[in-house]
Amino acid sequence: MTPTAKPRQLPEPDLEHIDLFDPEFHATDAPHAVWAAMRARAPLHRQVLPDGRAFWSVTRYADACRVLGDHRSFTSERGSLLPQLGQGDVSAGKMLVSTDPPRHGRLRRPLVAPLSVRAVEAWEARVREAVVAFLSPGPDGGVWDVAQRALRLPMAVAGALLGLPERDWDDLVRWTAMAAAPADPAFRTGGQGATLAVAHHQLFAYFSRRLREQRRDDLAEGLLPHLLTAAPDGVPLTEEEALYTCYSLLLGANATTPHTVAGTLLALSAHPDQFARVDADRALIPSLVEEGLRWTSPASSFLRYATADTELSGGRVRAGDAVAVWIGSANRDESVFADPHTFDVGREDNRHIAFGYGPHYCLGAGLARLTFRVLFDEFFRRFAAVEVAGPVRRLRSVFVSGMTRLPVRTPARPART
Ligand code: HEM
Repeated sequence: MTPTAKPRQLPEPDLEHIDLFDPEFHATDAPHAVWAAMRARAPLHRQVLPDGRAFWSVTRYADACRVLGDHRSFTSERGSLLPQLGQGDVSAGKMLVSTDPPRHGRLRRPLVAPLSVRAVEAWEARVREAVVAFLSPGPDGGVWDVAQRALRLPMAVAGALLGLPERDWDDLVRWTAMAAAPADPAFRTGGQGATLAVAHHQLFAYFSRRLREQRRDDLAEGLLPHLLTAAPDGVPLTEEEALYTCYSLLLGANATTPHTVAGTLLALSAHPDQFARVDADRALIPSLVEEGLRWTSPASSFLRYATADTELSGGRVRAGDAVAVWIGSANRDESVFADPHTFDVGREDNRHIAFGYGPHYCLGAGLARLTFRVLFDEFFRRFAAVEVAGPVRRLRSVFVSGMTRLPVRTPARPART
């Protein structure tokens, strides 16, 4: 029998008064219980903020796929992140996530081949190197903070992919963390708006400099030179488009990957029998990875705006309305996943949408899956268990679900004699 981790028994949520826009709410135990109630009782839920801005939420799997998959009825061009509700989007038509097809295809095509599952296989040795460095403090028997250390793991992979020098990685990790979770005290410098502005300024100034340097360097390696020469449909990418693409790749990788690593290890520590199952049969690692993605769903929400009056479960949204898609909820929808609150490393038919759905389906999915496969392969080789060794701290964010602190002890396997 597999253990269950049902949402903590909280009083039946009062859906009239929940605040899904509050980063603090997402750092509590509440979201899964609230989302379960929303799927059952209010699958199309409307929240009005004190300043009059309003958004709908969809929490069922079918509605999440409908909204993410239908760019004609639900545009990404007015902002695709809930915290920017009602502010428009200066990157519309220029950046991958905030551009609809057909123009979106022009930005996406140059990346499809370099990030294909086959192409990223060539990165396995680099990924393993980064994973081994990530796991290096584990074996000495002391306590180490998986959530903290994991922040650097995707940077080492994406840094190599983009050809960014290692001396810059710590700054880039800090700026991407600030951009992804500006409300969290671990990353905030001043107010939320100021944190976001500083992060964006630093990242764009950095990539602008890098792109200029790359133009002068014939021997440059990585994806940046490719972006500079890419000419989808015969028209080269503009400097601005290339800059936004660099930003999207780095944020896409850094904001999400660490939280699936930490969250899956937390689930394994809470479910030692699931740890034992993988330990006894390493062929389960690919399905552990998928279950870890479903379970953690680090890209927690995305936003779209309706372009026409449209029917969804539970009602109708009007043209111009904002609709938040809760991916973490869709991935626990009981009509799609058997025992959705059970962490089951052998789960079959795991059709999670942790990487999104439709035209914006994650470009880094192949690289992320490779990273997780290599990571758990190396982890199970080295360690006999994972035990939580101190208080866990959850990220304050409506957009990314994860942790900023997860101290663990990872007893090493006895040396073979
Ligand atoms: C656990 C790891 C990851 C998760 C859960 C994740 C999740 C997602 C999701 C949900 C989207 C869809 C956004 C939307 O519908 O508006 C997306 C898009 C994207 N992701 Fe990821 N991602 C991960 C890792 C990565 C990595 C490693 C990279 C870079 C190498 C990356 C780069 C991107 C890019 C560039 C897009 C935009 C695609 C487009 O708009 O066409 N992601 N990701």
